[in-house]
This record gives sequence, structure tokens and C-alpha cells, in this order.
Amino acid sequence: MNPALETLMLAFAAEDGLAVPARALFLGAQTHPTLLDWPQVTGWQPFRPYADAWEAAGFARTDEPLDGIWPVVLVLPNKSRDETLSWFALARDRLEPGGRIVCAMPNTAGAGRFEQEFAKAVGRVTSLQKNKCRAFHAVDDGSWDERVIDAWRALGNWREIPGSRFMTQAGVFSCDHIDPGSHLLAMHLPANLRGIVADLGAGWGYLADAALRGCPKIDRLDLYEADARALACARHNLAGHARSIHYHWHDVTTGLPGTYDAIIMNPPFHTGQASDVDLGRAFLLTAAGALRRGGKLFLVANRQLPYEAVLDAASLAWRITAENPTYKILFANKR
Ligand SMILES: C[S@@+](CC[C@H](N)C(=O)[O-])C[C@H]1O[C@@H](n2cnc3c(N)ncnc32)[C@H](O)[C@@H]1O
Repeated sequence: MNPALETLMLAFAAEDGLAVPARALFLGAQTHPTLLDWPQVTGWQPFRPYADAWEAAGFARTDEPLDGIWPVVLVLPNKSRDETLSWFALARDRLEPGGRIVCAMPNTAGAGRFEQEFAKAVGRVTSLQKNKCRAFHAVDDGSWDERVIDAWRALGNWREIPGSRFMTQAGVFSCDHIDPGSHLLAMHLPANLRGIVADLGAGWGYLADAALRGCPKIDRLDLYEADARALACARHNLAGHARSIHYHWHDVTTGLPGTYDAIIMNPPFHTGQASDVDLGRAFLLTAAGALRRGGKLFLVANRQLPYEAVLDAASLAWRITAENPTYKILFANKR
């Protein structure tokens, strides 16, 4: 159960809740049994596992750029401040005149603070609290402050990592800086990395860029990334490389469609707001399954993450090739 989603649905609870709309757009869409009874809900979801679940449940999906307007826009944000505010603006842009935005967030993600931010543009807000979350909503009565909404919209624009030429977007992993773990791995990639290589959880392309720069014998690089927005940034950030690069909007935990001479990765260990070591483990198992015999795996992880046992279980020979007080670099080999 996702408590914020449960709370969002409570805003439409039968007794004294809002009326179920004839049509709705759901930003950050995630499936809920109640939604199956709604006449029509279109979902926008950049994260592939949730997008797949949404489609598998039979709902309509839309990709960016969104087209059309709706009488109700539901918003289920993640944890980034700028992303959340830019999603408020996106909701406003897709709202029919007189329509309603309904948002829900966990208290730990700053729901109360975001309700206040929302009120700065929309004025009167109605809210309910349940499941340690808050759902809040407002009707566009024509008086919303467009200057505030313009400022929110700008937060969703692509931005440059300071001191670099890399472009990112609010909400994607490490959108304001180069991740120090990825940087450490980039420093320790061997120059003789060769053949067909995959980057799992490629983000906006930092590690992929380092591999292409430092390893001239890479014939092809396949990027696998679940966040469609990060992948779009990676496509931009790697456009200058005259190499064969393939971009896959893909849930790595479902396995890979190909096999590889080498795999590089900085595996995720968070799902939404919560830390999730099993996600990192699933990445390692996918990598082990996709390596050719003699294939090599290079990964960085926080020192406390127990990935060595996963490599043992997958029968990969491994060693730590570098470490610092926070991270370790693991090199594994498929015999
Ligand atoms: C620790 S970041 C590494 C980012 C990047 N490699 C870099 O150079 O900094 C992990 C990435 O995995 C992505 N991710 C999370 N779950 C995923 C999944 N199930 N399948 C594919 N990618 C996923 C995240 O969106 C994030 O971009």
C-alpha cells in the first residue's frame, strides 16, 4: 500500500468526498482498485515499473508532452521540492477552467509545507489528513496567481549541472551535482573496457559519458534507465559522442534483452521515499544473468551495502578494487 495514494483516494470517499469526475488526468500515476470504477483516467508516469503496472491494469497512459485539458488533475509527487512545484504547474496547465487539482503527499515529504506553497497560487485549499499523509485540493475559480505558477513551471525546465555541460531536470537522480559514487567508479574504469557494454540505471548519463571518453574500445553502449526524463537528458548529454549508443526506457529488475561483454553500474537502493536494498540486489542478479562468459562487472556501492553475498550467490568472482570512507568499487568476473 502507498499511504499517499490511499489518502488521495480518500478525497473521493463515497460519504462526504469529492464527486468522481467524468475524466481525470493523473500525474505520477499509480494503480489503485478504486480507480478501476472511475469512467476515464489517463496517467502520466515517467518511472517505467509504475508505468507498466498502470498499463497492465488497463488504464490509458500518456507520455510527454502532455496534450489536452481535464476537469480534474490528480498529483502524486515524489520527494523533490522543485519537481513537486513544477508538477503543480503542469497540473494547472492541463486543467479545464473551473477544474480541480487534487494532490497527496506523505507528511515526511513536507506535505504541510507543500500545501502552504500550493495555497500561495490558488488561495483557498481544502485538505484532509490520514495515513500520516495529507491530501489537499482547490478549484480554479479564475483567481489563481499566474506569476507564482510561472515560477513553478520554470523549476521543471532542464538545468545545467554547475561547472559542466550536462543537462538534467528536477526529480531525476542527482539532478544538481555529479554523484560522488558514480564519479569514483568513473575514475576506476579500466581504459581497456571493450566490446558491447551496458550501463544499468544510467540516469542522465554521467557514467556512460565517462566510459565513452575513457574507453575507446567500447563498440556499443546500451543505457538502461527507468526514469524517462533522465533518459531524455542522457540522450542530450551523450549526443556529442560519435559511437553506437542505444537508449532503453526499461525496468532493469525484469532482466535485459541482450548479453554483454561488460556492465557498469551505480545501482539504486531507493524506491520512492524508502530505502530498498533488494532493488540493488535485483540489479546485480540482472547483471550476472546478462554477462557473457568472461564478462566483467564494474559497480560502485555504499560500503555498508551487502552486495558481495549476491555476487557469491551468482557465482561471480569478485574483488574490491578501490574504496573510500563512503564507497567501494567492486569488480566481478563471470567465469
Ligand atoms: C544511483 S543512480 C545512478 C545514476 C547514473 N548511473 C550516474 O551516472 O550517476 C541509479 C539510477 O537507477 C535508476 N533506476 C531505479 N530503479 C530502476 C529500475 N527498476 N530499472 C532501471 N533503472 C532504475 C534511477 O532512476 C537512477 O537514475
